[in-house]
Amino acid sequence: MANDMRRINDDMAAYWMPFTPNKVFKANPRLLESADGLYYTSTDGRQVFDGSSGLWCCALGHNQTKIVEAIREQAGKLDYATSFGYGHPAAFELANILAAKMPGDLNHIFYTNSGSESVETALKIALAYHRMRGDGQRVRLIGREGGYHGVGFGGISVGGMVNNRKYFGALLPGVDHMPLPYDARMHRSVGQPEEGAEYADELEKILTLHDPSTVAAVIVEPVAGSNGVFVPPKGYLERLREITKKHGILLIFDEVITGFGRLGYTTAAERFGIEPDLITTAKALNNGTVPMGAVAVHSDIYGTFMDEGGEGVEFFHGYTYSAHPLAVAAAKATQELYDELDANANVRELEGYFGEAMHHIAKADVINDVRHLGFMAALTFDQIDGKPMSRSSQIFARAFENGLKVRLSSDHVAIAPPIISQKSDIDLIVDRMEKTISDVG
Ligand SMILES: Cc1ncc(COP(=O)(O)O)c(C=O)c1O
Repeated sequence: MANDMRRINDDMAAYWMPFTPNKVFKANPRLLESADGLYYTSTDGRQVFDGSSGLWCCALGHNQTKIVEAIREQAGKLDYATSFGYGHPAAFELANILAAKMPGDLNHIFYTNSGSESVETALKIALAYHRMRGDGQRVRLIGREGGYHGVGFGGISVGGMVNNRKYFGALLPGVDHMPLPYDARMHRSVGQPEEGAEYADELEKILTLHDPSTVAAVIVEPVAGSNGVFVPPKGYLERLREITKKHGILLIFDEVITGFGRLGYTTAAERFGIEPDLITTAKALNNGTVPMGAVAVHSDIYGTFMDEGGEGVEFFHGYTYSAHPLAVAAAKATQELYDELDANANVRELEGYFGEAMHHIAKADVINDVRHLGFMAALTFDQIDGKPMSRSSQIFARAFENGLKVRLSSDHVAIAPPIISQKSDIDLIVDRMEKTISDVG
């Protein structure tokens, strides 16, 4: 069967697609030709509403003139510059812009090219920071079940999505996981669940087991995204912050999805009023136009590297494409646009409407849960004959045929429209989802 498919689709065989069932896809491809505003155009000429903002990254939709022009201009001026021992002015300007938007004292920016690299960078900063302070026994890292922190070995070690881990050996040693703070009490919550903050106390138990003085960092997505949008119960993140602070453990917020407007603020940290020690970002940093990530770092950490790092290289880490001029130009234009369009305010104004729309869709009897915050949501579909993803994968495929791009994650379908979406766009999502649910049955 697999061989037949490969023969039929010989012209597609060379491209080994990521996180995609290759054989299924190549037998029935979904191909995107172009994008403008809030819509993709498929190769068969259909307009498809981008209900997942690309892959949570195109927060301002597509083909934004200011961003496109900035990239074009930059390509003709300085197409590449190494960041090892050299710099280019815009990289410093962007760092100042980002530092000003980050909460509290997270005033220093380390550039990467993806969310995965941001995570690896943050974990390495955490380990090296403790060692530089003479606290080198802090070697353990704590993540969370169901967490997604990209695909590097650090990220899959602290991450908790089983398929992303199980094929890849023993992973990093010294890693433990907290439970996902979610249970039946929180089903169909409106925004943040009222109950469940006590899940944070599980961290104390894990710390007691390992001795807190051996733990370097705790990493969480403030709102879990990739495994199906799980919103933290009220008080949970606050408690994680208290516990980590009490024990001298760094707290990393992985804001690769939540960063830059998804929750109506530049960061989830700002929305929840919590200052972590490091924030990882990527995706909407430059509207997904050129691969880029950035880690925002607390001044105390940066200061430690500068004070203790000697006269040479203070941090033996970086990428050929760190602060790539095209990515930086795109990010500067994107950040300006966020401000000009007051995009965060749009999310704050419409998130109630969006949440009601999601609950409206979730009245369908094949949906057993709905979760949402800001402009991110997930619907959990009943399985057909107890088979995982049986209904959700049909919904995913059918939605595309009906002109709506959504994101599939096991039995969950995530919806995260561009943050400039208006009420009429949200209404369109509802219409197309309802049609899709009725088509699939
Ligand atoms: C929270 C989080 N961290 C890290 C990543 C990895 O980002 P990338 O795919 O750019 O490596 C993602 C991607 O979805 C993410 O959601």
